Amino acid sequence: MSRHSPFRCVVTGASRGIGAAIVRDLATPGHRIALSARTEVDLMAVADTLEIPTMVIPADALDPGTADLVINQVVQQWGGIDALVVNAGEGVSAPIHRTGDALWQYMIDLNLSAPFRFLRAAIPVMKEQGFGRIVVIASVASQVGAPYISAYTAAKHGVLGLVRSAALEVAPFGVTVNAVCPGYVDTPMTRHTIDTIVSKTGRDPDEVLQTLAQEQGHGKLIEPHEVAATVRFLIEDLGAINGQGITLDGGKVHI
Ligand SMILES: NC(=O)c1ccc[n+]([C@@H]2O[C@H](COP(=O)([O-])OP(=O)(O)OC[C@H]3O[C@@H](n4cnc5c(N)ncnc54)[C@H](OP(=O)(O)O)[C@@H]3O)[C@@H](O)[C@H]2O)c1
Repeated sequence: MSRHSPFRCVVTGASRGIGAAIVRDLATPGHRIALSARTEVDLMAVADTLEIPTMVIPADALDPGTADLVINQVVQQWGGIDALVVNAGEGVSAPIHRTGDALWQYMIDLNLSAPFRFLRAAIPVMKEQGFGRIVVIASVASQVGAPYISAYTAAKHGVLGLVRSAALEVAPFGVTVNAVCPGYVDTPMTRHTIDTIVSKTGRDPDEVLQTLAQEQGHGKLIEPHEVAATVRFLIEDLGAINGQGITLDGGKVHI
């Protein structure tokens, strides 16, 4: 993969969608991947398709102890971590006047506090090694606002700030921290968004899909493997790319 190969990787939200695509893309000979999400059977289904050593760690990212548990388990068994991909997340929509405290807190806990805890757990290990690559799956919602997703947008803006500050802190130690900021990606999360819009508006599902596709500059949903290829590029980079949010949206958002 690079002069630091082989890699010991951790991927959160690894059981489907973008996370599963990242795992499959990184699963080349010589590498080891620890997969985490809540649903063990789904993680096993992904891990079983791979021909490299894997570790399956079922855990809820909302639990404040999860990041330490996952990172410690990998360090104990594999002696370190070279790449951490913080991907687990969810977007729930509501107009701001109907965004209750529970929804607000859920979005902040899952999309901002959980990534913070993963960075806090992994960075000392990587600094000690003198090498590490961290990639957070953020969103174009980290860069621009949009209606009906204020809590998600606030959390995703926050996580890009976390990435930028952490990058400056760890750069002298051979560690990089970057974000990938996709528009709408063709995953179960986006299919759920379409279902929600259809059930609230009665619109035709194909028409809703086209509306979401037009949110990207090239009029298409992003494919999970496109996000995965960008993650791999950031992991393979020798260290010059740090603290960046790489936008994948067909050209609409420029930041
Ligand atoms: N889809 C998009 O259009 C899009 C666009 C921009 C950014 N993103 C971001 O990309 C990331 C992945 O999205 P996706 O579209 O691949 O979503 P997805 O298809 O719904 O997959 C989400 C993954 O996260 C895991 N997960 C969810 N809640 C969790 C929790 N509390 N603890 C641990 N794991 C949890 C899920 O597994 P379990 O349910 O088994 O836990 C699953 O593996 C998210 O951070 C999302 O915000 C997505």
